[in-house]
Amino acid sequence: MPLSQFKGFGGVVIRGDMRGDPDDPLVLLVHGGGQTRDIWNDAAAALVRAGRQVIALDLRGHGESEWPADGRYEFGAYVEDLRAILAQLPSRPVIVGASLGGWVAAVALGEDGGHLASGLILADAPPDLDLSNIREAAGTLRAASETAKGAWDPRILERFDLEDALRRFKAAAPRIRVPALFVRGALSDITDAASASRIVEQIPAAEYAEIGEAGHLVASDRGDLFSATLLDFLERRIPRFVPEYRSGSDARTLRDALGCFATGVTVVTAFDTGGEPVGLTANSFTSVSLDPPLLLVCIAKTSSSLKALALAEHFAVNVLHIGQQPASSLFAVPGEDRFRQTPWKRGRHDAPVLSNALANFECRRHQMHDGGDHIILVGEVLRATFDPRRDPLLYFRGKYRRLHFS
Ligand SMILES: Cc1cc2nc3c(=O)[nH]c(=O)nc-3n(C[C@H](O)[C@H](O)[C@H](O)COP(=O)(O)O)c2cc1C
Repeated sequence: MPLSQFKGFGGVVIRGDMRGDPDDPLVLLVHGGGQTRDIWNDAAAALVRAGRQVIALDLRGHGESEWPADGRYEFGAYVEDLRAILAQLPSRPVIVGASLGGWVAAVALGEDGGHLASGLILADAPPDLDLSNIREAAGTLRAASETAKGAWDPRILERFDLEDALRRFKAAAPRIRVPALFVRGALSDITDAASASRIVEQIPAAEYAEIGEAGHLVASDRGDLFSATLLDFLERRIPRFVPEYRSGSDARTLRDALGCFATGVTVVTAFDTGGEPVGLTANSFTSVSLDPPLLLVCIAKTSSSLKALALAEHFAVNVLHIGQQPASSLFAVPGEDRFRQTPWKRGRHDAPVLSNALANFECRRHQMHDGGDHIILVGEVLRATFDPRRDPLLYFRGKYRRLHFS
């Protein structure tokens, strides 16, 4: 099995084995404390058979991952490891985390990382822990570590901060935005059914399942039942098929496909024949030509600004910066007094320009073309100004975004 290698928090080397076709959607498997990636053998085989690619990790201080010399085994280090690994993956995986692995995944996704994965499965990750249970578990784990000849670093028991893990797990739960499944072992002595149901209620899109004849180590106790439950959830909630639009089928899918093209956001402005400013939010902006200097925007035929834009000899395209999301929203809903709430001035070429935008293009109307339910408005750029110090407001898959520098 080829071992892949990732750089974790503080440069610690995290290893995992990769199975399946790299073109298939990815599932990342994260074991619990005192375990190794071997607990996923059944689940990994079932996932690959069902057309998913799998990476099973060894956590820091476990199995073949690095056992850091500085003994950094606090909960936050595991969370940062996972975040770093997710940033190194080419696509957003579904994460399956057992026990500690579940806490780590939930916190990485809930604390500001919703975009990092496409789904989350928590395998018997207890939201509450009775300390006597833990002492007992720690005793068992210590004994296991000795018999397993160093499958994990016993220093973990000294450095791990359980209270921080539980507190952050519970705080993160309501902020998990991806489809989620909690799988409890019906015989689990670590996770009680009532606290598991409580955490499931906290996670907005979560389901709950219980595996009979399995304890806390639900994925390996009944690998067959665990895999079946996992696959059923994935097929229903995070299917592997790629959505397809065909000419004549629903416009929603086409819109979603087009939404894969990330854009900036502009507000297109002009004066109407009465000298009043008009404008609307548009992301259909495209540069067209340098010589002559041309650009275009597509304006819906239903837009109430179209008439003014079509009649005005000049118009402006104002590219918004990251702080101008309120302006974007304002210019995209009808019935608001858009210009009273937004600083603007008359440009040099008889079009209103928004103040402090990332860039302003003042244009003379060059040509108009029919474009189905839109009009393609081509402008000749007479003047362009821009602010090199600001970041753009972005739009992708129907949501505003910001640049992310990795
Ligand atoms: C991010 C974003 C991009 C948009 N892009 C366009 C566009 O390119 N062309 C368009 O006609 N409408 C676009 N719209 C929709 C218009 O802004 C919206 O329908 C607006 O209310 C039209 O105003 P009006 O009818 O006063 O002209 C966009 C909306 C948003 C939020």
